[in-house]
Amino acid sequence: MDKQSVYQEICKDIKQHHCSLRDGCIQAVPGEGNPNSPIVFIGEAPGRKEDELGRPFVGAAGKLLEEALTQIGLKREDVYITNVVKCRPPDNRDPLPEEVEEHKPFLERELELIEPKLIVLLGRHALHWFLPDLQISQARGTVKRLGNKIFYPIYHPAAALYDPKLRAVFISDIQRIPLILEKIKELSTSSSVPTSTTQVTIFN
Ligand code: URA
Repeated sequence: MDKQSVYQEICKDIKQHHCSLRDGCIQAVPGEGNPNSPIVFIGEAPGRKEDELGRPFVGAAGKLLEEALTQIGLKREDVYITNVVKCRPPDNRDPLPEEVEEHKPFLERELELIEPKLIVLLGRHALHWFLPDLQISQARGTVKRLGNKIFYPIYHPAAALYDPKLRAVFISDIQRIPLILEKIKELSTSSSVPTSTTQVTIFN
């Protein structure tokens, strides 16, 4: 099966699944964008607007993410954007550990399909999914490797929306993405990317 077909299968399964959040929301929200993208952005869970439209990051936080992407010459359809949890938690509360667990196979399948060079973790929920021991305020802006995946935790755009300091940090972290991709390419050609079953910082 080609990538687009596998992507369609994943979307269909996400839309048809029945989890504990499903009765309290309008619809499940699969990831979207380019399944051939070297970059995947992972947020927390859909909000009200995303639940209404069935698309990730289409509210105010999504606008800020799009604005930041424009500054590095990217459109949202160039990259792949998804969430840890695909259904909106009631009143936008934090997803519970069991809800994250229920949705785990979807994100795993998305990443297996895309095999991104860089996974940008938007905020603490995405960070904790992969690197549970880290704090977003300390880890943001660093590039970590765990197994064959490379992560770049940054602040969630919703946190950056109303705080000018966080917004500046968010924008400058996004602006580093092209350079980070370059460095990853260099490291992989020089075969000096450390492989490890424990998390390592490959650069700051
Ligand atoms: N916040 C998220 O984490 N995900 C969305 O899709 C929208 C807002």
